[in-house]
Amino acid sequence: MTIMGIKMEVKEVKLDLDRWYRILAPRPVVIISTIGLNGISNAAPFSFVMPVSSEPPLIAFASAPQRHTTRNILETRVFVVNVPGYELIEELWKCAEDIPYGVSEIEKSGLTEERASKVKSPGIKECFAHFECELVSAHLMGDHILIVGKVISADIKDVFMRGEEYLITRSNPLMHIGGKAFGLLGKVIKVK
Ligand SMILES: Cc1cc2nc3c(=O)[nH]c(=O)nc-3n(C[C@H](O)[C@H](O)[C@H](O)COP(=O)(O)O)c2cc1C
Repeated sequence: MTIMGIKMEVKEVKLDLDRWYRILAPRPVVIISTIGLNGISNAAPFSFVMPVSSEPPLIAFASAPQRHTTRNILETRVFVVNVPGYELIEELWKCAEDIPYGVSEIEKSGLTEERASKVKSPGIKECFAHFECELVSAHLMGDHILIVGKVISADIKDVFMRGEEYLITRSNPLMHIGGKAFGLLGKVIKVK
């Protein structure tokens, strides 16, 4: 096999079954913001995230049952998926800290809440794209709850679009590799 121009002898090694998913990386990381029945906001990073339908527009992510995010979404049935650029890495990391229920990570991490256009949960101003969602379903899947939301409003800062083209090298979204390691997009290649 040739790797980075060097011919190498390779053999397969087995992966631990609790760690295999780390090879499915990097994964785009988002900050999901919610609101509790007490009116207090919450935000946390998530990388087990994927689009599941374009019509209707559906997004899914897996959230552990004990997450405040899970509780808020099951109680208020709305959430905002915020897409951070690489410059928000420290703030994103702070949002992952174990902060007591009822204390908002948004302010604590130095981020700014902004009113969403269609849902009660706030968005995060510093993120470059926002998907406002209504809960469609929640299913327990192993040790996570698969949360499916309908995207009812989506926006992106105009400087990251040229017509229909998404300028991803400009937005530089953060991608999670595992633990404290994140990746950035090196370059865009296109099929002929
Ligand atoms: C980069 C990154 C990605 C994460 N992805 C997930 C995920 O997909 N699902 C999950 O349940 N927790 C994930 N976590 C952990 C939660 O963000 C973390 O436990 C957070 O404190 C939960 O906050 P909450 O209890 O306010 O919802 C991730 C953490 C980091 C740093």
